[in-house]
Amino acid sequence: MKIITTIEEMQQIALQLKRDERSIGYVPTMGYLHEGHQKLMKEARANNDVVIVSIFVNPLQFGPNEDLDRYPRDEEHDRAVTQQEKVDYVFFPSVEEMYPESHAIQLRVVERSNVLCGKSREGHFDGVVTVLTKLFHITMPDRVYFGLKDAQQVAVVDALVKNYNFPLEIIPIPTVREEDGLAKSSRNVYLSVEERNEAKYIYQALEEGRQLVVNGETSKDKIVEKVIQFINEKTRGKIDYVELLTYPNLKPIDQVSERVILATAVYFEKARLIDNLIFDENGELTFHH
Ligand code: PAJ
Repeated sequence: MKIITTIEEMQQIALQLKRDERSIGYVPTMGYLHEGHQKLMKEARANNDVVIVSIFVNPLQFGPNEDLDRYPRDEEHDRAVTQQEKVDYVFFPSVEEMYPESHAIQLRVVERSNVLCGKSREGHFDGVVTVLTKLFHITMPDRVYFGLKDAQQVAVVDALVKNYNFPLEIIPIPTVREEDGLAKSSRNVYLSVEERNEAKYIYQALEEGRQLVVNGETSKDKIVEKVIQFINEKTRGKIDYVELLTYPNLKPIDQVSERVILATAVYFEKARLIDNLIFDENGELTFHH
């Protein structure tokens, strides 16, 4: 495994791989790697000649009051994980390397971003598509692996790739969970013991909502109400949103009659946790969650 810190070297390597007709699987991350990230790496390993993982905590996608300064980092651990997953190249640039000067051109997401996390994290997805545009040009992947834990991110990146003709395929990967159902996240380390115990109810709340649909309920309001009630009853978390929208277009609906996403974000003392389920009009999970 090779660790690359400059854009030039990474791009030269990718170019050579292209000339050699070797397929490139790419997993973009912000590090502090866990089993969710590892699942993405395993998929990339299984389906490509070469695997590139990037580790870059992207300042552009953090708002002024968010956790950029205390975003968890552990280089040693990340090195061990990427080695274990037989990653070929780890791209690990500095902020100065990625953003040496102010940008003369800004990317702005105008659809799929005014709901869910896009609403409460203003500018977040602009930052995500900006860094990914750079990273795609630097790593030149054939396939890029994203987790459905960040389903809105998948929807936004899907639009980026289609709208701007990136010659690559987005591969969405189901959410990896702890045994009690909590979605694995780098931010789970912020939870107190009590909060960690309560956090499992976020997933359970979404499941309650989905069960209503399985049992024939189609009213968005009723389903959302059930989820809100469950979270408020079982946790001391403060709900940021509970929303039910079409997926991947993220359009509002009154009745469930097509594939939808039921998603929530909940604030605990030091962490904002997100989770979602994507299912069809019968309540059946799609993407094999
Ligand atoms: P990060 O939060 O590190 O996540 C990297 C990738 O791992 C994302 O595609 C995310 O959806 C996936 N992931 C995280 N937890 C997961 C879980 N429990 N199960 C399955 N996949 C999971 O997302 C980002 O970084 C950044 O926005 C990035 C795309 C790197 C751009 O900066």
